[in-house]
This record gives sequence, C-alpha cells and structure tokens, in this order.
Amino acid sequence: MKGRILVVDDERAICIAIQRLFAGRGYEVDTAASGEEGMERLGRDGYHLVITDLNLKKLSGMDLLRWVKAHAPDTALVMITAYGSEKVAVEAMKLGAADYLPKPFDNDELELVVDRVMEGVALRRDLRLLQEKVAGVYRFENIIGKSGPMQAVFDVIRKVADTDLTVLVRGPSGTGKELVANAIHYNSPRRARPLIKVNCAAFSRELVESELFGHEKGAFTGATTMREGKFETADGGTLFLDEIGDMGLETQAKILRVLQEREFERVGGNRTIKVDVRILAATNQDLEAKVKTGGFREDLYYRLNVVPIVLPPLRERTGDIPLLIEHFLTAVATRLKREPKALAPEAYRALLDHEWKGNVRELEHAIEQAVVLASGGDIQLGDLPASVRTARESDPTPEGDRPLTFKEAKQGVVERFERQFIVAALERHHGNVSKAAEEMGMYRQHLQLKLGEYGIEPEAYRHRAERAQ
Ligand SMILES: Nc1ncnc2c1ncn2[C@@H]1O[C@H](COP(=O)(O)OP(=O)(O)OP(=O)(O)O)[C@@H](O)[C@H]1O
Ligand SMILES: [Mg+2]
Repeated sequence: MKGRILVVDDERAICIAIQRLFAGRGYEVDTAASGEEGMERLGRDGYHLVITDLNLKKLSGMDLLRWVKAHAPDTALVMITAYGSEKVAVEAMKLGAADYLPKPFDNDELELVVDRVMEGVALRRDLRLLQEKVAGVYRFENIIGKSGPMQAVFDVIRKVADTDLTVLVRGPSGTGKELVANAIHYNSPRRARPLIKVNCAAFSRELVESELFGHEKGAFTGATTMREGKFETADGGTLFLDEIGDMGLETQAKILRVLQEREFERVGGNRTIKVDVRILAATNQDLEAKVKTGGFREDLYYRLNVVPIVLPPLRERTGDIPLLIEHFLTAVATRLKREPKALAPEAYRALLDHEWKGNVRELEHAIEQAVVLASGGDIQLGDLPASVRTARESDPTPEGDRPLTFKEAKQGVVERFERQFIVAALERHHGNVSKAAEEMGMYRQHLQLKLGEYGIEPEAYRHRAERAQ
C-alpha cells in the first residue's frame, strides 16, 4: 500500500474516476460526496492525502482545508479549482494546501501532482520516525539507575524537561552529565529543533566571540564568508554549554550578556539578532569555590544554577552497578553486532569490587574491552582491563562481620599473590602454559591445577597477543 487517499467531490463520476486511477496504482482510495462527509471520514480514519474540489455544495473546499489544517495537520491536501480561479488557488496554498490543479486536467497531470505530494508526505513521515528514534535513544529510561540519588535525578528531569528553565548539571567526570542534557532536550518540546553542544574549555580567547555569535564577511582577516554562531544555530532549540567551569572570565562576561538579553550582534556586524534558546550547562568543577576565589562570575553562576542536578560518583550508588553491567553487556553486543556475552563469576566480582574512579564511563570502557577480547564463551577475569583486574581483592569473606582469622587472612594474601604472579607470566608468554611454567620454575601439571583452581583461562591471553599484533 503506497498511501491512503480521500477524494471529496459532489460529482460522483469524478470521485469514481479518481478512485480507479489511484487504486490501480497501489493507493487505498475512499470517496466522500460532500465536505461534511469528508470531515467525518477524516475524523474516523487517517489519510495521507485529501484531493478535494474547491466548489462543494455547503462546506467549500476551503472550509475543508481549514479543518484539515486544524485537526489532521499531517494530512496533505490537493485542491482542484475551476478554470481561471488562480486567486483562490493562491489563497489555498497560503492556507497550507500542498498543491492545486485547475480544471480541466488529465490523468497524467493529476498523477504527477499526487506523486510529488506523496513523496513529501513520506519524507516528513520518515523524518518524524527518525526524530522519534533519536528521542528513543536519549529517553531517560536509557539512563540506568535505580538508586535513590538517580531516582531523584529522573524526577527533576521529568519536571523540568518541558519548561524552558536553565539547568546546571554537576558531577565528576564520566557520571552521565551529557546524557542528562540529551534527556532533557529530547524530552522537551524543543526536541525537533537542534541541540547544540559547546565545549567551553576548548575555546581560544580570540575565536570565542565568533564561535558563539558568528561573524560578518570581512569582520577580520580570514573572515572570508559570513558565519553563523552557535547561539544562532541553536535558535528554537537548546544550547548545551559543557565544561562551563573552564571558561575564561572574558567569555563569561559575553555569555552573561546573551543570557540576560537573549540578543547579540555578529562580530563585525551591527544588526541585533534575537534568539529563542534554552540553556543547559554542565561542569565537574566546584563552581562555588571558584566564585569565592574570583575564577567564576557570581552573577553568571546564579543565572545558570536555576535548576541544579547533581550526579553522584559511582561509588556512592554501587547498587546501580549490576544494572549498568547488564545494560552495557547488551548495548556493546548490539553495537558490535555480536551475541551478548555472560560474565564468569570471577570477572563479575571484580567489576562489583572495583573503585571506578572514572565512574560510569570507566565501567562502560571496561566492558567494551572485555567483550572485544573475550574469546568464545563467557568473559573471564583476564579479559578485563589490568586496572580492574589487579585491584581485585580475593580475600575470603568471613560470614557476618566477624574479623578474619590469621589463617584466612594469610590464605587470601597468598591466593592474590599466586593469581597475579601466574597471570603476569601468562601475559608475558601470550597464554603459552608450558613456557610460563618453565619461567616460573613450576611443573606444567602443577600450573594446570592452579589455573583450574583460580579459573584462569590461558586462552584469554593468547587472544590478547594476537589482537595486539
Ligand atoms: N546512568 C547511566 N546509564 C547508562 N549509561 C551511562 C550512565 N551514565 C553515564 N553513562 C555512559 O557513560 C559515558 C559517560 O557519560 P557522559 O559523557 O554523559 O559523562 P559526563 O559526566 O559528561 O563526563 P565528562 O565530565 O567527562 O564530560 C557515556 O558513554 C554514557 O552513555
Ligand atoms: Mg561531558
């Protein structure tokens, strides 16, 4: 089915002729004998296109057009006008008709018009699907977290998304600040307009003005063409000022002015440009401290910090780690077009125990690396990055809160030492058990036993060697 068309004409013969023409070409076509019937059908069923005569008995084609624009804005309308009524045709186009066709016309002409209009309809539909898909990627359901602090963050996002309030997102590196900015924009009424991201730390002092506000042709040496600035590009949408704490004082003053007045001039120009932009900002810096020491303007701080969102470091929401692991295992597999892998218990424990100074980003990268390196079956401890692996504490955990006995503590240290020692040898010999055993002065069979005991897979290190080459 190429699309659904409704033909509205009080001359039955014309309805039937047009219906035949397009039904034969793969469209689904219904007819209505009056404007009233047309509205009723449109109200009941969805159509991609309405072909209507201008001169209908009670309600005119124009009335129908107005109704369609108000009640079915995604439906296109082609107006058939009487010979010599160009004025009305122009009026119809102004009101939003997709096209018009003066009588008399032949089938080829009508087909041409309909094909072109339907192409536009399809494009708009694709575009909308695409936008919905993009919005889906940034749905805040995709920000994983069931912990209290994250639930609080979701709450705020939900509340502020459809306002124009300025939001300041705080948190250490890798905690998901950009993700939150995406979620706010793509859940806001501005979602179909651009989200422009600006890294404030990356601006050079000389270029900052032209980056933000654009410049006119010839404004300075090298300005060979007019250039639009970020504020202008973001018009109607959202401007995300990232790393706002790293911005120089001069730039801060310039940004403050736009935030206050919502207008600016391009460099070298004198025309004032007004913009409608929602501002989101993020930083991992202690802005309050910077304000105290004079590194950040207090007035700008208050302008930005209208709604604060604070993302805690991962170590303060360890309850989210299992969910995040699950999420990244699936996400990475999908991205690499592979079957999702499971984690061997050893590897899973290491992920739970690690300190995650790099927060969620570090966890994501660790899983990404492990999925890529793991050969065949489950992800083994050896597939994880060295930093995650070596921090693994393998002390036996006593039941309850009882302190370890001397024997237990010693056993833990010995096991940890043995494991690290063996893994290091395997890494040096790319998983070759015989060579590793020889180097350590162990019998091969003894090493095999130890490997089984600790769940170490020499395979994992062979793979790594091949990849590295
Ligand atoms: N709660 C979460 N759920 C799922 N993925 C997350 C979550 N938090 C962060 N991530 C992922 O971690 C990575 C880092 O997130 P993001 O870029 O938003 O961090 P950031 O706070 O802006 O870091 P930086 O300060 O270094 O710029 C991204 O790939 C993001 O998708
Ligand atoms: Mg960021």
